[in-house]
Amino acid sequence: MPVEADFSDPPPEPEPGSSADELQRVQLTAERRALMLTLVRRVALHVLSSRTGIEALQHIAHGACRLTRTRYAAIAVAHPDGAGLQQTVTVGAPPDGSSAPHSGEEMLAEAQRIITLGRSGRAAADPAPRADRLLAPIRRRRTVLGALCVVKATGEGPFPTDADTSLRALAENAAVAIHELHQITRQRSLIRALIAAQEDERRAVAYDLHDGLTQYVMASHAHLEAFRTAHAEGAEDEAQEELDLATRFLRDAVVETRRVVSGLRSLALDDLGLAGALEQLLSEERERAGWESARFTDGSGGRRFDTAIETTVYRVVQEALSNVRKHAGASEVQVGLEYSPGARPGDARLCVTVTDTGRGFEHPAAQTDYAHLGLHSMAERVELAGGALELRSAAGEGTIVRATVPALPASGQEATP
Ligand SMILES: Nc1ncnc2c1ncn2[C@@H]1O[C@H](COP(=O)(O)OP(=O)(O)O)[C@@H](O)[C@H]1O
Ligand SMILES: [Mg+2]
Repeated sequence: MPVEADFSDPPPEPEPGSSADELQRVQLTAERRALMLTLVRRVALHVLSSRTGIEALQHIAHGACRLTRTRYAAIAVAHPDGAGLQQTVTVGAPPDGSSAPHSGEEMLAEAQRIITLGRSGRAAADPAPRADRLLAPIRRRRTVLGALCVVKATGEGPFPTDADTSLRALAENAAVAIHELHQITRQRSLIRALIAAQEDERRAVAYDLHDGLTQYVMASHAHLEAFRTAHAEGAEDEAQEELDLATRFLRDAVVETRRVVSGLRSLALDDLGLAGALEQLLSEERERAGWESARFTDGSGGRRFDTAIETTVYRVVQEALSNVRKHAGASEVQVGLEYSPGARPGDARLCVTVTDTGRGFEHPAAQTDYAHLGLHSMAERVELAGGALELRSAAGEGTIVRATVPALPASGQEATP
């Protein structure tokens, strides 16, 4: 639903102590309150209907100008991981007459100070409150998401008495808009990282083909040529030797093909089923990592599931085990598969758990680092399959990765032997 963008001018603020009739004063106050409510409601609608978050922030800055009777408003947006300024959204030109408006970083620092001191914007902003500016922190609990600031030019007259309240109400709406914006930023980084990872994978496949498969096929070809020459010359022993070598290199080429293909899709899944493939994966990783104990428990009852579901579970375990090998320094690892039928058809769930006794980590910090894609791709895969990923880890206490996905049965075609 499109929302009306411009707001009518608020009625002038009633002047306390003026000679105006008391009734008119009360009426003006009531009108201003009503207008403020309408405006804040409209801003909230903008926030809900905005697709980018930025648009909504612009409406909020605009609304702030109207309600505080200023011509310049700025919103500083903090970076999603809390490290500094992401961007600044402004309305109007910064007033020349006033002391220069803050930079985005200064606005964020001031918002942080206000939250830490737990006082009202104007009081905490400066030891001596400044008549020309007003700042409200945009926050989620004690975290600074941003700051909303309005600045008056010299000679623009004082702020209305309820300006602080209006600004704080708008800042609450801004918190929702910034949350949206952060979500979009996160999704974009994730997509960029996924595309980069896909490119890396393609390159790896190309190298595999070039270094492995192509070499074997070329070697086989060379030995077949040598066989033909030897055979034509009647050197039968040599011909036989060349033929054996050519066949051996072709056999290696077939093995290599399977290896390259299994990097894309696990052949083990087709051959051994989910439980078998996981057990094999665990024992391969154990050999590679030298874990003392690696236990697999199968609570799936030998069931087969939808290909996408099995692949998801397999890839999650693959990444989780490779993380244990690379990062955990663990001696014991467990992989468990559980099937629960659920009360109604369609409620059946398949749950896989990878537990290690290693050094653990503070995962919320690790999760915002897009250079490390493993945890993200795990969560993405599971989410795409309609499930949920749970990660429990603490420094020194090991790690538990648990993925729960709908236990969709294998389709008829796949179920047939
Ligand atoms: N099982 C684990 N034990 C200890 N640290 C882990 C474990 N799994 C993940 N981590 C930490 O989380 C970070 C992110 O993991 P991930 O997203 O898979 O990226 P990568 O494996 O490429 O580093 C790792 O660099 C590591 O610090
Ligand atoms: Mg990893």
